[in-house]
Amino acid sequence: MLPSIIAIDGPAASGKSTIGAAVAANLGYLYFDTGVMYRVVTAVALARALPIANEAAVTALAERVQIDFCAPTVADGRQFTILADGADMTWDIRTRAVDQNVSPVSAYPGVRRAMTAHQRRIGLQGNVVMVGRDIGTVVLPEADVKIYLDASEEERARRRHCERVARGEAVEFATVLREIQKRDQIDSSRDVAPLKRADDAIYLDSTGMAITDVIARVMDLVAAKELAH
Ligand code: DC
Repeated sequence: MLPSIIAIDGPAASGKSTIGAAVAANLGYLYFDTGVMYRVVTAVALARALPIANEAAVTALAERVQIDFCAPTVADGRQFTILADGADMTWDIRTRAVDQNVSPVSAYPGVRRAMTAHQRRIGLQGNVVMVGRDIGTVVLPEADVKIYLDASEEERARRRHCERVARGEAVEFATVLREIQKRDQIDSSRDVAPLKRADDAIYLDSTGMAITDVIARVMDLVAAKELAH
């Protein structure tokens, strides 16, 4: 039998979303990007002018907000539509303001508790590729395949810089690099569920690798797990 739960963790812009979505499509599995949930909480907090430093208010929001994913409702290049309490937030979660505030939001224990409970429920249904920071360590420690996807800081900053320039933003490479370093630092050093490689995760460094080669490598790891059963 093919492994049913595949966890992919790694730092910002390590390629988790691209690789995770492609592997899920190849296997016919659900692709679930958990970072989106922390981004929705952050985007809604900013839209409601809640101070991000107000842990109680941001946590209460995370506990109450209804987050839904559905097939694309607009043909504007989106992979899926993301709704928060029924409002389309698909692009609002990708702004610079969200990039800059999502790490502190995701460090709040109450926010993580609320998001982790949802993610675990979805993951345990199986046939899923779930990507994030703590999937193999906290959300789904029983995952059949765990991959820790990494790339050098410079390469990750280059990828994010290209994406943002393609979206029409005038942003310096050095700024993107600094922001990535700051997010890595917060994501890895927080008290609850920090970004770290699970003991049983396979480490995959994608620096200098073509996307198709990384996808092929992950598919090989999935197939190897099937043979081992
Ligand atoms: O993968 P991303 O850049 O969309 O993630 C946004 C933020 O959410 C990231 O800074 C860390 C946080 N995150 C997390 O703490 N745990 C996850 N499982 C996924 C994301």
